[in-house]
Amino acid sequence: MINFATGSQNILMYSHRRYGKTSLIHQLYREIKAENLPLTCIYVGLYGTLHERDFISRCFQALSQVETNFERLMKGVGKTFRQLRLKADFDPNTGAVSLTPSFDQRTDTDFYLDEIMSIFEKYSLRKRIVVAFDEFQEVGNYGLPNFEAKLRSHIERHQRICYIFSGSQRHMLSEMFNRKSRAFYKLADSFPIGKIRTEHYVPWARNLFSRSGIDIGLECITDIVSRFDNHPMYIQQFLFHLWNNLVMHKKSVSTELINTIEKDIIEKHQAEYETLWVNLTQNQKKILKLVVLNDGKNLFSSQALIEVELKTASSVTKGLEALLKKEIISKNGGYTIQDVIFKKWLIKNLHL
Ligand SMILES: Nc1ncnc2c1ncn2[C@@H]1O[C@H](COP(=O)(O)OP(=O)(O)OP(=O)(O)O)[C@@H](O)[C@H]1O
Ligand SMILES: [Mg+2]
Repeated sequence: MINFATGSQNILMYSHRRYGKTSLIHQLYREIKAENLPLTCIYVGLYGTLHERDFISRCFQALSQVETNFERLMKGVGKTFRQLRLKADFDPNTGAVSLTPSFDQRTDTDFYLDEIMSIFEKYSLRKRIVVAFDEFQEVGNYGLPNFEAKLRSHIERHQRICYIFSGSQRHMLSEMFNRKSRAFYKLADSFPIGKIRTEHYVPWARNLFSRSGIDIGLECITDIVSRFDNHPMYIQQFLFHLWNNLVMHKKSVSTELINTIEKDIIEKHQAEYETLWVNLTQNQKKILKLVVLNDGKNLFSSQALIEVELKTASSVTKGLEALLKKEIISKNGGYTIQDVIFKKWLIKNLHL
């Protein structure tokens, strides 16, 4: 990725939720800093943005975080932004200040988009920039028809900026970037983020524990990694609880302890999964059961259908499509439940 950053090549990075995209962006930024590369790093988190005005606001906020000299920033942004009301937020942990412009509904978004993008360009002339748009799939849900095309026309012209488009809704992003009719077609090289392989977790986790004087066995780590299907967030959570038990409570590693921690983690998600479950249709619930029972394979066999009381193959197709769209399951040869803890929750609660 660092070569793309220094060469101002755009990157499209996608994966399922919580595979480590945001961490990877921050890691890239740390490396750029550590190696003293002549690049300004800007991180624009788009999570929760609902329309173009939010997008512009977040860009401005991100810019105000890297340009700590307020006067220089205000000079850079030109008259237009100076006329807006700006709200300053102070982060007591980092000491960083960020500025949020307040737009009203009548604001001419095109105008401010042009403005913010030309500020990025102006900055890049001095020093190359990396701009990461994290949770970029949100852009696909904004309202204005030409926004994507306008954004593209700016991005294309920016020779000294590496844009990183990062997001988790795979089909939304691949629609945006791989469909000929869409504005972002072929604007960036794809970097699908896969699971971290077990052999990479093992030395990393053993090292974490050895720092506290604990030698955690190879088999134990391998077991934990496979229980959580190589999912970084759950493995992190699990290892934290394990560390807490071993170091703070002086327990020793046992299958029983590992089972208890796993159970606790599943229980922690109870409320979240209950909400998810009640919002599914009856058909979708049956399909989930079907996927778990059959390990995602041969879902259309009559035996499999009878088991979950489904009558027609078309209801299976319909349910699978809806669950894929909701990103609850994914398709890769067979079908899998994306969230491994949700799968465990289903097994427990549906008595499968
Ligand atoms: N290389 C890694 N090794 C171990 N744990 C990691 C690694 N990268 C990320 N994690 C952990 O995985 C979790 C998810 O990481 P992160 O938030 O970066 O993922 P994400 O793909 O951006 O998630 P989201 O889809 O919610 O945006 C975090 O708890 C993080 O600490
Ligand atoms: Mg993220």
